[in-house]
Amino acid sequence: MKTILTGIRSNSEMTLGNYLGALLPMVRLANEHSDEYQINIFVPDLHSIISDVDGDLKKNSIRSLKYYLASGLELNENIHFYRQSYVPAHSELCWILDCVATMGETSRMIQFKEKSNGQDSCNVGIFNYPILMAADILLYDATYVPIGEDQFQHIELTRNLATRFNNRFGETFTVPAKTSDQVKFMGEEDGIRIRDLINPEKKMSKSTKAENSKIMMDDSPERAAKKIMSATTDSLGEINFDIKNQPGISNLMLIESVVSNTSLSEVVENWKGKTRYGELKKKVAESVSGLLSDFQNRLGQITDEQILDLLKEGEAYANKIANQKLLEAQKAFGLR
Ligand code: TYM
Repeated sequence: MKTILTGIRSNSEMTLGNYLGALLPMVRLANEHSDEYQINIFVPDLHSIISDVDGDLKKNSIRSLKYYLASGLELNENIHFYRQSYVPAHSELCWILDCVATMGETSRMIQFKEKSNGQDSCNVGIFNYPILMAADILLYDATYVPIGEDQFQHIELTRNLATRFNNRFGETFTVPAKTSDQVKFMGEEDGIRIRDLINPEKKMSKSTKAENSKIMMDDSPERAAKKIMSATTDSLGEINFDIKNQPGISNLMLIESVVSNTSLSEVVENWKGKTRYGELKKKVAESVSGLLSDFQNRLGQITDEQILDLLKEGEAYANKIANQKLLEAQKAFGLR
């Protein structure tokens, strides 16, 4: 069976960007394919500690796993929940891949440049983070990895490392699908990048200070609606999907498309040429506040015990699969 795998860091509450870029696509894929694929949903808690954590990481991890259930994930025996730090093979394979990756390719990662801010004083984990991500994916021979567009470069790096390893040491890892094929598999027209509501040139990010720039998954539906109503648009006066010249308006159409599970071209077709930005904002505000109110109601009904039970099964499964793959890699490298 092939594997679909994803992880979302739980340093703090999630943004609507995390939710629409990675979590919801994963839930939709899992519900569609969990009879023919293994579905691995994990919390990359070792990735979390490269930067500050708001609150208690252990509790945040449980909360973020609840989000999948609150978004309608239908459980079955092919769905596995685990925490990265409970599967030591991730760190072990990361070290082996460190010895395959080059400084040059790792230094080119945009996320590294952004997160390190060009400072030598940044921790080494920030540099190493995409290699650990490659280990997360390759240990399970994952083919599809639902993620937002900002992480695509890390998939390409993972593909390069897997190919190089296989060529040098013998066929060991499944090379994940190309990002263009991942996008097709997810039924999207392009990778998803939800933008900052005030500065739509940037992606929506938890680390942005301005509250009105981002929608958090614990915002009240009313608060979220107000943030959308005050989103930056432009003065062109006509609705078009044009990221370069109308990033704010385009962002609203993208949000509408993902939230309403309608293709982007259909949403664009419906709004193209209209002139009332307020109407588009109102529609998006309604869709997002409806999503938040359903999500928050369901979230309140999920207990920690439910998640801990799932983790028990999931971590046993993950350790079994990951240890087998690690042993293969160790043998190929001459360590065993
Ligand atoms: P993280 O925790 O920064 O983000 C989690 C997911 O949310 C997506 N995302 C967005 N998508 C669209 N628009 C946005 N504004 C937006 N902001 C964030 C990210 O693309 C991501 O999919 N390294 C990863 C976590 C990770 C992982 C993995 C993912 C570790 N190992 C293995 C997949 C497979 C990260 O830091 O994502």
